[in-house]
Parts: sequence; C-alpha cells; structure tokens
Amino acid sequence: MRAIILLGPPGAGKGTLAAALSENGYTHVSTGDMLREAIEQQTELGKIAEKRIGDGLLVSDELIMQLIEKRVSDAAVDEQFVFDGFPRTLVQAELFDLFCVRSHAELMHVLVLDCDDDIIVQRLSGRRVCRSCGAVYHVMYNPPAKPGECSRDQCDLYQRVDDEEDTIRRRLHVYAEQTAPLIAYYEQKGKVFRINAEQEIQQCLDTVLTLLRKGDNQ
Ligand code: AP5
Repeated sequence: MRAIILLGPPGAGKGTLAAALSENGYTHVSTGDMLREAIEQQTELGKIAEKRIGDGLLVSDELIMQLIEKRVSDAAVDEQFVFDGFPRTLVQAELFDLFCVRSHAELMHVLVLDCDDDIIVQRLSGRRVCRSCGAVYHVMYNPPAKPGECSRDQCDLYQRVDDEEDTIRRRLHVYAEQTAPLIAYYEQKGKVFRINAEQEIQQCLDTVLTLLRKGDNQ
C-alpha cells in the first residue's frame, strides 16, 4: 500500500481534491465521511462523534485509529490511498507511522493545502452535500446543475451542521492548535509539498496531478 495525505484547514478543499483523485486511481479515505456515516446509522461511535463534530471538536485518537486500521487492513499491495482528514493530531501521525512499518506501507507525500481563513468561511458557508452519494458542491464555486439537487443522482443537497460560522471558527482554532503542528513533523521527514489551495478547483487538481506524476517518475 502507498499513501498520500491531504493536510489542511477545514474547507481548504481536501475532500474535493480527494474525490477527483479517486477518479485517477486513488482510493479515497475520509475519516469525516466515515464518522458521518456512523452518525447516520446511530452506531455507538456515531453517537460519540455526533456531539464532538457538532461542537467543532476532534474525535478521540483511539476511535479514529480503530476506523483507519479497519478500513485499510485488507488493502492490496499496490493500492494507492489518499487520506482526507487523517491524521489530525501528532498521536495519530505517530501511530500511522507505526502502522506503515507493521504493514509495509509507504507514505509518499503529504500535500499541505494553504488557504486563508476568510476564504474558508466563504467556502464552508456555501458548501452543499448530497444526502445520498456525498458529492460536494458550492453554491457559487461549484454549483449543481439545478439548485438544491445533486447533479449525479438527483437527491437532495444539505448543509452540514458544522458549517455554521461559529463552529467553522472553532474548527479553525482546533486545526491551528492540534493539526497544523503536523506540517513541521512531516517537513522533518521530507514529505511535504505545499499547494496554493486558493486557486480554482481545476488548477489545484492539475497542480497535484503534475506533482504526483513527477513523483512516480523519480
Ligand atoms: P471532515 O469532514 O474531515 O472536515 P474538515 O477537515 O473540517 O474538512 P471539510 O470536509 O470541512 O473541508 P475540506 O477541506 O474537505 O473541503 P471541501 O473539499 O469539502 O471532519 C469533520 C469532523 O469530523 C471534524 O471536525 C472532527 O470532529 C471529525 N474528524 C474527522 N477526522 C478526524 C480525525 N482524523 N481525528 C479526529 N476527529 C476527526 O471544500 C469546501 C467547500 O469549498 C465545498 O463547497 C467545495 O465545493 C468548495 N471548494 C473546494 N475547493 C475549492 C476551490 N479550490 N475553489 C473554490 N471552492 C472550492
């Protein structure tokens, strides 16, 4: 298994990029999506996650590592994963390193998406998500063909509970405190590439694909 990690503040575009990479041979793993699925199904994990996500706080490292290990434990040797929203704390990053050693997995790149806080608030307050397939839209920057309706499967679009301005600001604070230190952690390992995530969606994707192809040819 080979992995790339998308690291960046909420709303920087991790999910949008990861979904596009999944059409280019990568398996998309989003801990946020997995937690929302658990909430939908009201599992034990879902009940715990519901409150934490609603408050803009992180779910415990232990629960997240259980989810990840279960998700990737039967990966094919040549499978390429893109992690969106994981790891998010130094503990998760260290445990993931140990997991990689144990399972002969290789961390290829950590792509850090840089984006200004005010742009993030605009992006998240205009985000709409398909209730059925999870496709992500933006009312201005990436609108569906018909307002309120998913262009893929015509199901309803909804606004996430954590996309209200107060919660967005709390999530940004949590990111700065608990997740941003991972940039230095991975810089020391020589894994970091910085992406200007303020570009348009297609430009971000082109930048990332060019970088990944270069990496593959080295
Ligand atoms: P999660 O779902 O991972 O949320 P997040 O990291 O806060 O990121 P978002 O999904 O909000 O944003 P994104 O960067 O994916 O942006 P998107 O592509 O959607 O996590 C939610 C919660 O779950 C956490 O708060 C935490 O509680 C918990 N959790 C998850 N993982 C955890 C972990 N590992 N440990 C502990 N707790 C965990 O784009 C946003 C909007 O902008 C969209 O509308 C999109 O269309 C638009 N857009 C995207 N790119 C561009 C662009 N380049 N130009 C213009 N618009 C754009």
